[in-house]
Amino acid sequence: MKKTTVYDCSIVELSQHHSDRKGNISVVENGKTVPFNVKRTYYLYDIPGGEERGAHAHKELHQLIIAASGSFDVTLNDGNVKRTFMLNRPYQGLYVVPGMWRELNNFSSGAVCLVLASDIYDEADYIRDYREFLEYKFSENS
Ligand code: TYD
Repeated sequence: MKKTTVYDCSIVELSQHHSDRKGNISVVENGKTVPFNVKRTYYLYDIPGGEERGAHAHKELHQLIIAASGSFDVTLNDGNVKRTFMLNRPYQGLYVVPGMWRELNNFSSGAVCLVLASDIYDEADYIRDYREFLEYKFSENS
């Protein structure tokens, strides 16, 4: 188990291909843009105003979180330190290492939260109880 901290998480600039007035393309490539292989992609949308998502941690999963449209805040918490990232550019992603409690909120109208993940869905990888998360991080560091 890794002793991950919020400082292991960072904004990744994605490549941007401009097509003048025809719009833009941004690309994520395995191992090049992100230090993991992408095995799953999912996206959150139609999020009602004032709603919060997340409120869990993953034991092993790496993720890249992108505001594909609109904006929202992601607060990461390693049990000691919290960092909030405002995502509002489709050419930036937030790389989230395992062992981070995350909360997503302040979704703008029409926001789309695109997530690239290092593994397929596995409920056993989730920690959904905050106290359990703190115990997990504490035992990790002992
Ligand atoms: P969850 O990860 O808890 O959503 P959020 O953190 O955005 O609030 O997932 C919500 C529900 O969707 C949960 O019942 C499990 C299901 N789900 C899948 O079946 N597969 C997936 O890949 C994901 C991400 C969620």
